[in-house]
Amino acid sequence: MNYLPENLKFEEGVAFINDFSLLDISSEYGTPLYVYDWENIKNNISEFSTSFGNETLYRYAAKAFICKKLVTLLNENNWGVDVVSGGEMATVLSALDTLENTLFNGTYKTKEEVDYFISNNGGHISIDNLNEIPLLQDIASKNKRKQPVILRINLDLGAETHPMVLTTGYDQQFGLSIDAAETALKEVYNADSLLFSGVHVHIGSQIKDPERFRKAMEECSSFLEKNKASVEREIVFDAGGGFFSPYEGDEDGKGLEVYADSIRSGIEENWDTDYKIMIEPGRAVVNNSGIILYTAGAIKEDRGEKPYILVDGGMSDNPRPALYGSEHKLFNISENKKEEVKIFAVSGRHCESGDLLVEEASLPTDTNPGDILMSTSTGAYTFAMASNYNRVPKAKVIGISNNEIFDLVKRQSFEDTLAQDT
Ligand SMILES: Cc1ncc(COP(=O)(O)O)c(C=O)c1O
Repeated sequence: MNYLPENLKFEEGVAFINDFSLLDISSEYGTPLYVYDWENIKNNISEFSTSFGNETLYRYAAKAFICKKLVTLLNENNWGVDVVSGGEMATVLSALDTLENTLFNGTYKTKEEVDYFISNNGGHISIDNLNEIPLLQDIASKNKRKQPVILRINLDLGAETHPMVLTTGYDQQFGLSIDAAETALKEVYNADSLLFSGVHVHIGSQIKDPERFRKAMEECSSFLEKNKASVEREIVFDAGGGFFSPYEGDEDGKGLEVYADSIRSGIEENWDTDYKIMIEPGRAVVNNSGIILYTAGAIKEDRGEKPYILVDGGMSDNPRPALYGSEHKLFNISENKKEEVKIFAVSGRHCESGDLLVEEASLPTDTNPGDILMSTSTGAYTFAMASNYNRVPKAKVIGISNNEIFDLVKRQSFEDTLAQDT
């Protein structure tokens, strides 16, 4: 998996996805514009499916990017969705009419969300804390369901990734410590409307080292082995998401089958009866296939060491650089640009000095107002984290397949930004 969309190519500096010129697309659809190489997403899905096999329960992490057409594509490939909110559930429901293959995760689950999930035949709920158990029992019982639940366990596996995307460790707010998990298991066992169905660890994002997955699953299988008496049926080992997806400058990660083998080997270390693997990849499915197009506005040369290019988007369409200093390689995809490059700071349009898309972007020396800039590796945690800061309407999202361009999410209008005002 490379950091660029698989079907992206350059012809005389102009970027194309398949045979569609992104320059033409930017003038037809306007900017900022999120663009997905749809065939690339399909290939990412099938790479997971081939590496982990048909028996695995795939629960794509909606938080990376979700829309109805993506839910449909996932469903066509037998993938369910991992959701953390009623809004994400509503997106799945509107595409599929059921939450059957949906996993409900998250540290705060409201009564309304739990009821919405259970009453729509929701798949698994991952228990984050002990407070949830009576709430889930109560709502499952009112809905006359025996609700499958798994326990999210917090293990101290050490940091390998950026602290902002690490989600295990004793200083983290997610999941249950092993001791709390033992208590939770007993409580679930005694709750007649809950069905204990497995364990869950999500280490964090951008995990390169397969050994961490192995270790996480080894600790989970040891926990389950000790508590085997409470296991009533085939168990799920949910290894979470976090599979590595390269950004510019990163080497490609290991093949996914290496992670699949590590997960299996950790489970089988202590567990010798039937089980199913569940995984929740997000970024590795959508990140490299997505780009954002911007139009360059003014270029200020009257300050600092490098000129500032001011673009028509920023932290409202991609908050990641401001949130955790993420870096996205920029290309000027306008025609007939010089080969010679210089360093620019590329700034967003928002009223924050932190709204810098790229601090040191290497772009053609003749980059001018009106040029189209393409920000890469922007398929994950961009539109999903978009806001209406400064009441800027959210940008449009399109997909490009082999032979067509299609809308995924419409551009907001000015009126949309005040639709909830009274
Ligand atoms: C519980 C859980 N599962 C899955 C994911 C997806 O992670 P990634 O997009 O790195 O695959 C996350 C990301 O934060 C998460 O918190």
